[in-house]
Amino acid sequence: MDNFVKITFNKKTYEFPVITGSEGEKAIDISTLRQKTGLITLDPGFDNTGSCISTITFMSGEKGILRYRGIPVEELARHSTFTETAYLLINGVLPTRKELNQFSVLLNDNSLVHEDMQIFYQNFPRASHPMGILSSMVNALRSFYPGLETVEEINKTVTRLLSKMRTLAAMSYKISRGHKVIYPRPDLSYCANFLNMMFDSPVKPYRIDKELAKALNVFWILHADHEQNCSTSAVRVVGSGRVNLYAAISAGIAALWGPLHGGANQAVIEMLSDIAKNGGNINSVIKRAKDKNDSFRLMGFGHRVYKTYDPRAKIMKKTCAKVLKKLKTNDPLLNIAKELEEIALNDNYFIDHNLYPNVDFYSGILLRAMRIPTNMFTVMFAIGRLPGWIAQWKESADDPKWRLSRPRQVYIGPTKTKYIPIDER
Ligand code: CMC
Repeated sequence: MDNFVKITFNKKTYEFPVITGSEGEKAIDISTLRQKTGLITLDPGFDNTGSCISTITFMSGEKGILRYRGIPVEELARHSTFTETAYLLINGVLPTRKELNQFSVLLNDNSLVHEDMQIFYQNFPRASHPMGILSSMVNALRSFYPGLETVEEINKTVTRLLSKMRTLAAMSYKISRGHKVIYPRPDLSYCANFLNMMFDSPVKPYRIDKELAKALNVFWILHADHEQNCSTSAVRVVGSGRVNLYAAISAGIAALWGPLHGGANQAVIEMLSDIAKNGGNINSVIKRAKDKNDSFRLMGFGHRVYKTYDPRAKIMKKTCAKVLKKLKTNDPLLNIAKELEEIALNDNYFIDHNLYPNVDFYSGILLRAMRIPTNMFTVMFAIGRLPGWIAQWKESADDPKWRLSRPRQVYIGPTKTKYIPIDER
């Protein structure tokens, strides 16, 4: 097989190397294209563009595969915890028991946030979206915890972020309800601690349910990384300007907020609730999703990379059913979601467009069962994605060829135009 590609332009032929990834993926290295030929490439949405080489996550959209550092996400969801998976993503290998214990102790030691940060929360307008608040608060952490120069300081910042972002999210929920903030407890695991900070109260102590904590571990493991998606690319691009880690993560949170990306989990529940309100009329939703003159899309369906069933959605669907059974809850939205999936998967439009449920289709129903409010769903996604953002940021920062991200464009605006003074226009 050829290990180069030839491009002929203006009667001259140029060769560009083909590089092969560890799973056989091939790419043309065009890093010298402009220098040699004067040409650039045009690829809106970056469907055909590899922005980096990476050792973190492998996904196959055709085969429905997702692996972190080589380990299938199905195995991690079954056997691992979110803390262990975060360690794996960030450090590249699974921790020993001693390393995991040390990591957990560090997460506990860094879980409190500066009391002054509570004042910020009080001053956001009541209707503020928690994603906007989280993005601002993570950026604000830089002012409270500035040291970011040495390797030790950066490692400390990584642990701080993992621990404090979870505390900030739970705090925002409590403050938005006008309730007393519940502090993290050193005796609780990462996920149990989050649930406790969300739902414990001085009048009604929260009883931690081990199965809910396990389901939350699975939820966060499934979201932990997804290679060069929109928010991760935002973290890498913003980071390439050498901003501090907090600012790069804050940019990732902002990018995740959109309904085509992480915001889809909230949009799915809103869509399912609308169907329930309208007497369960699924066919009219399917009809709208297929109508080219309607911008409506079936939320929780379709993916840029997966052209088959999203492996995360399979696990999410099972976890969701298990939790609802355990809690003896009958959420009518689960039945609507299952019926909607069944209809869509047998409809030619969805078959021809390779549209299958993605991770967000069932995740909202699981979060509802945990009593997480709908407007916090994307915040839950963000906490889960944090280890991936950090791992990807670290990988780019450790790359000796780390360069400022600066794409080109093809300009199609006016050519040189004379300035006309205001009174002569
Ligand atoms: N409902 C109806 N039609 C759809 C959908 C959908 N959910 N998704 C894609 N299509 C159609 C689209 O109309 C287009 O049709 P045609 O070729 O006939 O004009 C075709 O499929 C390709 O669409 P595209 O927008 O070029 O595809 P994309 O790769 O940019 O789309 C997507 C990826 C996720 C933005 C899209 O599938 C979508 O909007 N889905 C709904 C939002 C959603 O669930 N997002 C969460 C993604 S998973 C979480 C994450 O990892 O971010």
